[in-house]
Amino acid sequence: MGSGIAEVCARAGYATIVREIDDGLLAKGRARIEKSMATAVERGKLADADRASALDRLSGTTKLEELSACDLVIEAATENPEIKKRTFAELDRVCPVHTILASNTSSIPIIQMATSTQRPDKVLGMHFMNPVPVMRLIEYVRTLTTSDETLETARQFGETLGKRIIVSKDRAGFIVNFLLIPYLTEAVRMLEQGFASKEDIDVGMMLGTSYPMGPFTLLDYVGLDTTLYIADILFDEFKESRFAAPTLLRQMVAAGYLGRKTGRGFYDYSAGEQPPSTR
Ligand code: 3HC
Repeated sequence: MGSGIAEVCARAGYATIVREIDDGLLAKGRARIEKSMATAVERGKLADADRASALDRLSGTTKLEELSACDLVIEAATENPEIKKRTFAELDRVCPVHTILASNTSSIPIIQMATSTQRPDKVLGMHFMNPVPVMRLIEYVRTLTTSDETLETARQFGETLGKRIIVSKDRAGFIVNFLLIPYLTEAVRMLEQGFASKEDIDVGMMLGTSYPMGPFTLLDYVGLDTTLYIADILFDEFKESRFAAPTLLRQMVAAGYLGRKTGRGFYDYSAGEQPPSTR
């Protein structure tokens, strides 16, 4: 997600600094951005000259202090509340008082990050969708302490990225995952209970409702671990059975079948299996 966010910022004309925890991850992120920009040029979404200038606007560092000249910082660290709270406290020390601090978390309450700083009025959620350069939405999360001015400044920024902004209260799942995660876990329950094959469920949702991917293809794309993590957060907050993660999902995560990133999820990509195509 971090590389996608950096890519769209640089492409929109912003001087963009990526902070990673080591040089290896910085190089990996840069390579991902270069590949995505090459695809954008191939597809006619980006002029070659604009690709070169966007890459020039991108720099990398492993030092948090080098973010001290930023007007906006978007945190996309691993989904661990302790890491995020610590990062926000450090950013609060390093960044000037006017800097807005945003989190790309898909599930952790933003108020936890806001109250780790001395500027809770300047903290909000900016939840991007995967793949970031393609998906046109950013879901903003306003906490009890986010000021009108912060929301408005962030909204104007998001619109310059070419994205549509929606605003959610600081509740688990926000808008998109509150609806998406029960849909995905319900599909897993259907498979568990033998309603139909994964292929037929996928094709059903693609051809029956024009979803670009069926639920199992999307689960593999998002990551089964990520889906389980968000389902557990939803269950913790709302304590409703519709948010309870199905056993099959939990066991697949335990087995390391996490989706595309490990070569196997509901589909076994390492064995050459592919989700059904409807083209
Ligand atoms: N930069 C800019 N544009 C690009 C691009 C790039 N790097 N790569 C591709 N594109 C453009 C293509 O040119 C094409 O544009 P067009 O429609 O105008 O022709 C469009 O993006 C689609 O690209 P492709 O043809 O390569 O790919 P597909 O048509 O197979 O679509 C997909 C791929 C966009 C991933 C589509 O399958 C899809 O939308 N899937 C669902 C994704 C989704 O639901 N994401 C949200 C997940 S939930 C989430 O992120 C929240 C988290 O908290 C869990």
